[in-house]
Amino acid sequence: MSPRRPFIVGNWKMNKTVTESVALVRELRGLVSMVRHVDIAVAPTSVALQAVAKALEGSNVSVAGQNCHAAASGAFTGEVSAPMLKDAGASWVILGHSERRQFNGETDAGVNKKVGAVLEAGLLPIVCVGETLEEREGGRTLEVVARQVKGALDGVKAEVGASLVLAYEPVWAIGTGKTATSRQAQDVHAHLRALLTGLWGAEVAAKVRLQYGGSVKADNAAELLAQPDIDGALVGGASLRAADFAAIVKAKPAG
Ligand code: PGA
Repeated sequence: MSPRRPFIVGNWKMNKTVTESVALVRELRGLVSMVRHVDIAVAPTSVALQAVAKALEGSNVSVAGQNCHAAASGAFTGEVSAPMLKDAGASWVILGHSERRQFNGETDAGVNKKVGAVLEAGLLPIVCVGETLEEREGGRTLEVVARQVKGALDGVKAEVGASLVLAYEPVWAIGTGKTATSRQAQDVHAHLRALLTGLWGAEVAAKVRLQYGGSVKADNAAELLAQPDIDGALVGGASLRAADFAAIVKAKPAG
């Protein structure tokens, strides 16, 4: 039996108004209220985060930010800080998502600063890594994710390592309907765990939860989650409907 509790997170990206976000989690909380063996979180937009957190009070679903700034406050127009996300009700922050790397110039060094800010604020990061199609076809997948992991986690102490989450999201599988095969995903996850062993030692590495993301749906979740080093999922499109997301949450067999 895996020592790690599965963790399923819905990344809503730039979808849902505040009203729609609240309606979605009102439905979701009822659908997953009996789930005991999985940790669950949703990541709404930052404008909806507080209302979503309130609508989830007393439930088994926690709330994540989708990004934050590395500073706690200051003259950074348009940005949101980790302490603000925490105060609004978040417990987690997704960092280094490939869309942010692609459209917002996010770098490994930048992600590293944000990891520090998130931990400092008393939140936990979900750090995303993953290769592009070109990198995979060039046989560089393991090298790329190794660079991203080492860059993002540079200086993070082993004591906090075990509570972090890493999400492996091959860029070519995000929003494309193309999922990595469970074998492809497991191979990268095993590599990630070996990297973490190098960073923090085997005992800590064995506790870190590694999520897979990229076109996860109710019908492919069970097979992915059955892999020994896949401890959860970061779900985009399929998290926007309560029934679809609940089906993914329930796809992991208990025990
Ligand atoms: P997708 O997105 O499930 O829509 O492919 C995953 C993600 O970007 O986290």
